[in-house]
Amino acid sequence: MSLLEHCTTARLGDRQVKRLGYGAMQLAGPGVFGPPKDPGAALAVLREALEQGVDHIDTSDFYGPHITNQLIRKALHPYPEQLRIVTKVSARRDAQGAWLPAMSPAELTAAVESNLRNLGLEQLEVVNLRSMHGLHAPAEGSLEEALTALAELRERGSIRHLGVSNVTPTQIAEARRLVPIVCVQNAYNLANRHDDALIDDLAREGIAYVPFFPLGGFSPLQSQGLTAIAAELNATPMQVALAWLLQRSPNILLIPGTSSVAHLRENLAAAQLQLPAEVVARLDRWSELNE
Ligand SMILES: NC(=O)c1ccc[n+]([C@@H]2O[C@H](COP(=O)([O-])OP(=O)(O)OC[C@H]3O[C@@H](n4cnc5c(N)ncnc54)[C@H](OP(=O)(O)O)[C@@H]3O)[C@@H](O)[C@H]2O)c1
Repeated sequence: MSLLEHCTTARLGDRQVKRLGYGAMQLAGPGVFGPPKDPGAALAVLREALEQGVDHIDTSDFYGPHITNQLIRKALHPYPEQLRIVTKVSARRDAQGAWLPAMSPAELTAAVESNLRNLGLEQLEVVNLRSMHGLHAPAEGSLEEALTALAELRERGSIRHLGVSNVTPTQIAEARRLVPIVCVQNAYNLANRHDDALIDDLAREGIAYVPFFPLGGFSPLQSQGLTAIAAELNATPMQVALAWLLQRSPNILLIPGTSSVAHLRENLAAAQLQLPAEVVARLDRWSELNE
């Protein structure tokens, strides 16, 4: 039986996907730059994800750059019918790996073409416009020019759906006036709850919320309280962090990232972990948990 056999699903555009998916960013080299040390291990992670029932992979052509998409293509193409690959555009890398904005219509068009080519697809299921108004956190600034360019590519058939990432509620409202938005991808986890109200608003509107850094990102969450709760439940801290997100709201789709098959299996098994209400209440008081 696969680890996601009984995983619940949620809406992503006009499809249903399993609520536990996979984020491919960790497959590139250190700093998400260049190739991985062991490309064979990266291919094994991707193949294992599909074996275990993953039908939603998050990626971008600026991971590597190009490397992550090329690994996905090498490992999984021709893709199974049910697999949804979601990508993002709006950044480029310099020769040292720095992240630079690339939000002009010409850069966005080139990025969509590059994603299509490297993934070996004729249409991208969902393209997230990742706002570069803020690098590490959302910052206000209009997305109109960029979204208008992406909407044209959607009209031409290169893109099926659009989403937005690293955005404020004002930017989401602006985006929704311009084009249908099927998902929002912002940083959110047990320790970063800035988007609490936004998640509930999006749930009411039928829009998926896809937290990035669900495990805390490059420095995964560490807390004695979380470790103690995990031990009580015979689970791991990362599984508790993911189960809490799954129980937080039905419109949340998870894309935890890992470069390890063992971590991948551990994370996918969180689909089977039900947290008692009393545990959710303790986790909700994250700062007290760590006193
Ligand atoms: N839109 C955006 O701006 C944006 C930004 C960042 C990420 N993303 C997307 O979101 C996805 C998820 O974010 P993320 O990968 O950066 O962060 P994450 O999922 O919060 O955490 C990944 C980190 O946790 C470690 N990890 C994973 N599973 C573990 C386990 N079971 N036990 C211990 N450590 C574990 C990984 O190391 P190992 O490799 O050693 O397992 C890696 O260091 C990415 O893959 C990417 O697709 C989007």
